[in-house]
Amino acid sequence: MSEHILQNRENGVLTLTFNRVDKKNALLGEMYTALSDALEQAAQDDAIRVAVFQGSVEVFTAGNDLIDFLQNPPDADKGRDVPVFRFLEALRVFPKPMIAAVCGPAVGVGTTMLLHCDLIYAGDNAAFSMPFVNLGVCPEAGSSLLLQNLVGYHRAAEKLMLGEAFYAEEALDMGLVNRILPPHEVNGYAQAQAAKLAAKPASSLRITKALMKQHQPTLSAVMLEEGRYFSELIRGPAAKEAMSAIMEKRRPDFSKC
Ligand code: COA
Repeated sequence: MSEHILQNRENGVLTLTFNRVDKKNALLGEMYTALSDALEQAAQDDAIRVAVFQGSVEVFTAGNDLIDFLQNPPDADKGRDVPVFRFLEALRVFPKPMIAAVCGPAVGVGTTMLLHCDLIYAGDNAAFSMPFVNLGVCPEAGSSLLLQNLVGYHRAAEKLMLGEAFYAEEALDMGLVNRILPPHEVNGYAQAQAAKLAAKPASSLRITKALMKQHQPTLSAVMLEEGRYFSELIRGPAAKEAMSAIMEKRRPDFSKC
């Protein structure tokens, strides 16, 4: 359990709400653990037929907590014992529909986790970004594969290499989101879609998802490889310079990295 992840189970829908608003819902290890526990239980629980992720009307999540990154850099050798890796794997294998309701910034894993979701509804204030290179690390959550599958190589390269934010209209055009709504309507719309799915035959939904996902046979290996490089890079000079620059509120100098 984590006070920063609210959990609601109602009418077959598990709703997981990021709830660390003062830190823009930045994700801590304990939050990944709570999310993983909830997903792993829900995968086994016939009473849960759909999972929904949401933040607040202002922010989905600022991604991994940067201080936590510095203090507890993920170590690929520890595999599932690393909370973020366990969460990403729980997302990858979750067999039931997952919906994300995204308002405001969705940074880093806040965007890459969407590549594992089935339906995504965004507020017109949504801002997506994958600033991994700017932080001296590399893509995670299978995004090096999933993003180019979704949007094509060049567009994926632009998003992953420049790491700049892009907004709801572009995300809709890219096929990353299903629909844009006024921010205060997003969570309600996601719940209405979840209720529709929860009323459908669970076995048909599970097989539909499994059939669609089987065309990503290398995803697990890609995620392991990303994790190995990420662990190496986060201990390297570029990540140290990027994090120091953020703490010191200055521009990073990568000229020697
Ligand atoms: N980790 C830790 N703390 C974070 C955070 C993160 N990823 N993102 C935001 N915060 C904290 C800020 O330090 C600030 O804390 P303070 O009030 O104690 O100073 C608070 O949340 C508010 O953030 P702020 O930057 O003032 O909000 P904003 O509305 O101007 O901008 C973001 C929101 C999300 C665009 C911006 O905070 C941001 O870019 N954060 C970093 C995202 C990032 O690099 N994540 C890692 C991805 S791998």
